[in-house]
Amino acid sequence: MNATSTKLGTSTKLGGKRLLLTGASGMLAGDLVPLLIDAGADLVLSDIAEGENSGVPVSACDVTKEADVCRFVEASKPDWIINCAAYTKVDDAQVEQELAFRVNAIGPGNLASAAARSEARMLHVSSDYVFGGDASADAEAMLGKPILEEREPNPCGIYGQSKRFGDELVRRALPDRHVIARTSWLHGVHGPSFVAAILRLADERDELRIVDDQIGSPTWTVLLAEVIVELVSREARGLFNVTSRGDISWYEFAKEIVALAGCSTKVGTQTTEELNRPAPRPAYSTLSLEKIEAFLGRECGTWQAGLRGHLLQCGVLKEA
Ligand SMILES: NC(=O)c1ccc[n+]([C@@H]2O[C@H](COP(=O)([O-])OP(=O)(O)OC[C@H]3O[C@@H](n4cnc5c(N)ncnc54)[C@H](OP(=O)(O)O)[C@@H]3O)[C@@H](O)[C@H]2O)c1
Repeated sequence: MNATSTKLGTSTKLGGKRLLLTGASGMLAGDLVPLLIDAGADLVLSDIAEGENSGVPVSACDVTKEADVCRFVEASKPDWIINCAAYTKVDDAQVEQELAFRVNAIGPGNLASAAARSEARMLHVSSDYVFGGDASADAEAMLGKPILEEREPNPCGIYGQSKRFGDELVRRALPDRHVIARTSWLHGVHGPSFVAAILRLADERDELRIVDDQIGSPTWTVLLAEVIVELVSREARGLFNVTSRGDISWYEFAKEIVALAGCSTKVGTQTTEELNRPAPRPAYSTLSLEKIEAFLGRECGTWQAGLRGHLLQCGVLKEA
C-alpha cells in the first residue's frame, strides 16, 4: 500500500487541492478522474486492488480495514476524500449482507473518521435506493412529487439499507465537513450498466420485456462527475440530490436506447413482480433537483442528453 500522486491539469478549479479518490477503478471514477485531472487536482487514487486510471496509478486500500484506511489517509494528506468505493450488486447484496454493510457502511465510516483526524473534508456518493420502503413515497409518486433532501430514508432492500447506514456514519464523523451526493440509475461507459445490457440484449434477441412500474432518473456518470467537481471546488456542505432531469420507467429508457441505437428489436413491458429479482426496488425514486440547481445556478442535464452523451462516448452514435 503506497500513496502515489500526480498533478497534470491545466485548469485551476481544483488547483492546489489534494484529493484522495477511493473506488478509482469503478464506473463513476472512470469519468470523474479525467475531469479532476483537467481541473488541476493533485490526485491520490485507491481501490480494492492496484491498477491505473487515466495514467494515474491506483493503490490498493480496502476501505473496510480501519487501520489500513488510517495509514493510507495519513500518508496521502488529502484536503478532500471522494468516496466512490462501494458494493453495488443490488441483488447479490440480499445474500452477501455482511459484505454489503462492510463496504457501503463501515468503509465510508472508516474514511470519514480518518478524514476527521486529518482535518480533511469528504464527498460521499449515496443512492436513490435509500428509498422505496414506505407507502408515503408511493403517494408522492402518484402526485409526481420528487423526493426532497429532507425526506427520511426508508430503504426496501439490503443495498439501500447499507447505503443509508454509510450516509449516517459519514454525517456523524464529519458533521460540518461532509458532502453527500445522492444519485440514481447511473450509467457510463466504464462499467456494466443498463445501457450496455440493453445494447447487448437488443443484438441477441428480437424482443425484450422491461419493467414499467419503477420510475426514476437515469444519470450519466459524466453529468454526476461534473457536478462533483463543482461541489468540491466550491467547498459545498451537506446533502445534495444529483441526477439528470426528468424521470421515466426502465421500459421507456430501454425503448429510447434501442431507438437511438437503430435496432429493430421490439420492446415490451413487464412488471417488477413478473421479473422477480432477488432484491426489492423502489417503485418511485425521483429526486428533487431544486437544491443542486440553485447551488449550480443552472439546470442539470436531461436524461436524454445523458443517454446521447453515453452513446456518443461508446461509439454507438456518431457526431452529426
Ligand atoms: N451504479 C448505479 O446505478 C448507482 C446508482 C446510485 C448510486 N450509486 C453509487 O455511486 C457510487 C459509484 O458507483 P459505481 O457504479 O461507480 O460503482 P462501481 O463501478 O461498482 O465501483 C465501485 C468500486 O469500488 C471498489 N470496491 C469494492 N469494495 C471495495 C473495498 N472494500 N475497498 C475499496 N474499494 C472497493 C469496486 O471494486 P470491485 O469492482 O472489484 O468490487 C469498484 O472498483 C457508489 O457509491 C454507488 O453506491 C450507483
